[in-house]
Amino acid sequence: MYKCAIILAAGEGKRMNSNTPKVMHKVCGKEMINHVIDTMRSADIDMVDVVIGRGAAEVKKGTEDRKINYSVQEDQLGTGHAVMCAKEFLSGNEGIVAIFVGDGPLISEHTVRELLDYHEKGNYKATILTSRMNDPAKYGRIIRDETGEVKKIVEFKDATTEEKLVEEINSGMYCFNIKELLISLDKLDNNNAQKEYYLTDVIGILKDQGLKVGAFDVLADEITAVNSKVELANAEAIMRKRINEKHMENGVTIMDPSNTYIDCDVIIGKDTIIYPGNVLQGTTIIKEECVLYPNNRITDSVLESGIVIQSSVVIESKIGEKTTVGPYAYIRPESNIGKHARIGDFVEIKKSTIGDNTKVSHLTYIGDAEVGSGCNFGCGTVVVNYDGKAKYKTTIGNNVFIGCNTNLVSPVTINDNAYTAAGSTITNEVPKNTLAIARARQKNVENWVVKKGLNK
Ligand code: UD1
Ligand code: CA
Repeated sequence: MYKCAIILAAGEGKRMNSNTPKVMHKVCGKEMINHVIDTMRSADIDMVDVVIGRGAAEVKKGTEDRKINYSVQEDQLGTGHAVMCAKEFLSGNEGIVAIFVGDGPLISEHTVRELLDYHEKGNYKATILTSRMNDPAKYGRIIRDETGEVKKIVEFKDATTEEKLVEEINSGMYCFNIKELLISLDKLDNNNAQKEYYLTDVIGILKDQGLKVGAFDVLADEITAVNSKVELANAEAIMRKRINEKHMENGVTIMDPSNTYIDCDVIIGKDTIIYPGNVLQGTTIIKEECVLYPNNRITDSVLESGIVIQSSVVIESKIGEKTTVGPYAYIRPESNIGKHARIGDFVEIKKSTIGDNTKVSHLTYIGDAEVGSGCNFGCGTVVVNYDGKAKYKTTIGNNVFIGCNTNLVSPVTINDNAYTAAGSTITNEVPKNTLAIARARQKNVENWVVKKGLNK
């Protein structure tokens, strides 16, 4: 059977109080709308249409890599009207359409599959995804007849006092047979409290024709919609818990899941241990048996196995096996650190390659440099890569020893096995096996203190 999905995302989202369109807000590192699109695709619904309106350009741009169809709703005249705007997407197809909302990112692939299955097996013309809530607030209510069959959906603003007591609510997510939906859409009117064309009225219209409507009940967590920043934080907490539990099932140790922030696409190998305060973002991959001591932010980076890192920031970089990082290291984009290396405290590395077994233990800046293996950087080394206008490259061979407080004025090359004396400002190439000393000689002025009368 042909299956497609429409995702409603044209609404304004006033209560977010934001310059960003509501569905472009991120939950665990991914835009809400993209969560919904990806979930549809993983449930094998390939044809996806998103109804855009407010902030259309931004929503389009933020979803373009997902190769979906768009329908435009110029004026937001209600959820029914939004689906009418997608008529072209539906027409000519027979089968099922799943209708979801761009502000409901928590829906799972499992539930989408179950809903479709229930709909098909039950031979329904429409199936509503419903939930039960003790305090159903402003959700639409599911009204059933004497026999317990779904009769209609009543919006909170149109509900009688008695109807408001109903705890069974409409998630705003459904599937429909395309044919019956298209016929019913033509019958919608806006005679209601909000003067809107309600998609929910399609249910009553189908029932009035004696057609079968189903209700599929799920836990409230899955259908929670995000309308405000408070609800955004709630959704984030629910998804964070799911993500952390998935990693723990895969063998990752997370000391305090409520204080561990892992984006949805991060991959982590087993027996990695994560202490509180870690923020793992984007497309980061952490391999097996790493230890992430407290408070790291790691973004779009790859950490090979056995790495130990603490209180550091790593962005768009790679770190090799069994290297240790931090505390307080800052590894900036396009850095590539080798195996068994050491990047210590207050070290900043920018767009540089650091070879295997090289140690940069403390208080050092390395930018735009290529460093070989087995090197040792003394405390306080600065690669002077910028003259105020342009950046220059520094090349350092293997087994080089950089003395404490060396300035390496780029562009400059230090060849294999060379040494620089502590306190040197190196401006010229240092040949192989050479010690470079570039500092003023020490002169002792004897008895100077006594002559000056400064002695105590
Ligand atoms: C809707 C349902 C309500 C349900 C609730 C669940 C209707 C009439 N009501 O109410 O029964 O309990 O969702 O969250 O459907 N949208 C458009 N164009 C529009 C209006 C809305 O694209 O003209 C989109 C919004 O961007 C949003 C979704 O539809 O993603 C839901 O709209 P919203 O206004 O939040 O509906 P509710 O009033 O919450
Ligand atoms: Ca809503």
